[in-house]
Amino acid sequence: MRKKMKPQDIIWSDQHCGVHQATVDELEELMPDLKGLIATFPENVYDYIWDVKVHMLMPGQYPCIPNWHRDMVPRDETGKEDLSKVTPEYPMYLWLSSGPLTEFQLEDGHSYKIRSQTWTKFTQLDLHRGLPSSDFTWRGLIRATHKNLNISSPQVNNPFGRKSALRRHCQVYLDANNFSW
Ligand SMILES: [Fe+2]
Repeated sequence: MRKKMKPQDIIWSDQHCGVHQATVDELEELMPDLKGLIATFPENVYDYIWDVKVHMLMPGQYPCIPNWHRDMVPRDETGKEDLSKVTPEYPMYLWLSSGPLTEFQLEDGHSYKIRSQTWTKFTQLDLHRGLPSSDFTWRGLIRATHKNLNISSPQVNNPFGRKSALRRHCQVYLDANNFSW
């Protein structure tokens, strides 16, 4: 019988790029090694849409957006975020295997890094930013987004109308001032 995997047992370098706006069934079919971890999710998994991103990082590379921003704020026809349309009663969760850890900003302006290997709940109103990797490392990111946030719509987070649940690309972001080759 196959041993049940603990979250920390996932070998991220063995995974493919991840999934894009997948149902939990698609996620578990495409990334079966994550089943044990998904079983620890604190809410009903069927109420959420799933993104997984797997990165091979070098020092100085950012696996996610490096400036302060909010996730899943609906945009108007010009592409500008419309904060009157947010519904923070529908949450999101972020889970990171390891650093670089995402930094969140409190209302008083102070900021803190989230814990790795922990489901961190947040909403469309929470400002956050990615930090650069300090190591050569593999990193897994999981973001669960409540389905009522309509992330698959062009106004929220699918401007290209992408439909494939298998993630085929993973981008990194660079601070060109610190980059050398
Ligand atoms: Fe973000």
